Amino acid sequence: MKKNILIVISAAVLFSMVSCSHKKETAASLVPEDYSGWTITADNLNYPIPGHENHFRRVLINPKGQEVSVIKKEGKDYYAYPKGTIVIKEIYPTLNPKEGTKPVSLTVMIKDPENPQSRDGWIWVVKDLKKNTEKIIDYEFCYDCHTNANEPHQYGDGNPDGEFRDYLFFPYRKTASGNRQQSSDNRSY
Ligand code: HEC
Repeated sequence: MKKNILIVISAAVLFSMVSCSHKKETAASLVPEDYSGWTITADNLNYPIPGHENHFRRVLINPKGQEVSVIKKEGKDYYAYPKGTIVIKEIYPTLNPKEGTKPVSLTVMIKDPENPQSRDGWIWVVKDLKKNTEKIIDYEFCYDCHTNANEPHQYGDGNPDGEFRDYLFFPYRKTASGNRQQSSDNRSY
């Protein structure tokens, strides 16, 4: 219950809040320009979600993140991504972009616990691909909602056992097919 309320409330304010905030945008330097060879952890996210508005989305993880450790803690799986993990979520201009369309922005999680701007071990970044600027969101907003990923929720497999997934809704799995969102068509991006 708590999570649903949280997601709905945050939804209304997400990107308006990010874009209206007075936090500084800086020249892009944190998010690698070429991530084309990374592993896709969620594809064909073509349903609207609160918080990321009505945009087609795709999620990729860098090779470092694939060294994730999963241990049992108090009977539950506990995920820990190593420092240097980068997870990129591409945001496309519409919910049903034509083949070949490029994303307009990226929302990114970078594991860097010692960084003073990190929250819960991650730096939370929004990259504007047109302006080539990045903004670190170091107030509650992003990580607050992503806390829901560590409890049962309504996305992907839903995390029914409430595993600690290190704030990722779509955790990296060695068997990638187990994690891919079912595709309703054959578009490729
Ligand atoms: C209201 C809830 C909410 C807020 C706020 C939110 N997200 Fe997300 N985020 C999600 C959901 C749900 C997903 C699952 C993928 C999807 O359906 O798009 C997700 C996925 C992601 C992913 C892919 C990794 C994963 O969890 O599988 C990244 C990276 C990400 N978000 C970054 C951010 C950043 C950066 C911010 C802040 C600017 C942010 N998110 C704010 C709900 C939220």
